[in-house]
Amino acid sequence: MRWRPQWLVLIAAGALACGQASLPEADATERRVAAGRKIFERKCASCHSRRGDGRTIVAGRFPYANLLDGVWRGDGSAESIERQIRKGKDPMPKFEGKLTDEEIRQTVAYVLELSGSAEPGAGR
Ligand code: HEC
Repeated sequence: MRWRPQWLVLIAAGALACGQASLPEADATERRVAAGRKIFERKCASCHSRRGDGRTIVAGRFPYANLLDGVWRGDGSAESIERQIRKGKDPMPKFEGKLTDEEIRQTVAYVLELSGSAEPGAGR
C-alpha cells in the first residue's frame, strides 16, 4: 500500500472527534457520576447492593429496590429519584440533611447511569 495524504485528513478528523467527547460538559457529568458512585457505595449499597440490583437481605423483598430493571414506583425521572433520596420511604431512610444538595444530585446522576436511563443533562 502506498501512503496517501487523505489518510492524514482522516486521522486529524478522528482526533478532533475524540476531542469533542471530552468537552467540559461531558467531563462534568463524568465527575458527578464518579462522585455519586462513591456515595452510593457508602450509603446505599447496604440495601441496594453495589450493583444496584437490590438483592440484599434488607431490600430483597421490595420490588422497587432493584434500580437496574427500569421498574420504578415513580416515573424513573431524575426528579422522582431525587425525591426518593431526599424523603426516603419506609424502609429507606431519608437522606435530606445527611447528604448535601450537591451530593444528592451526584447520587441521582449515578442512579440514572446505573439504570441505563441516563440522558445528557439528566441529574442536574
Ligand atoms: C435501609 C435500606 C435502604 C437504604 C440505605 C437505601 N435504600 Fe433506596 N430503597 C430501599 C427499598 C427497600 C426500596 C424499595 C421500596 C419499595 O419497593 O417501595 C428503595 C427504593 C429506592 C429507589 C426507587 C424509587 C422508585 O421510584 O422506584 C431509589 C431511586 C433509591 N431507593 C435510591 C437510593 C439511594 C440513592 C440510596 C443512598 C443514598 C438509597 N436508596 C438507600 C432501601 C434502601
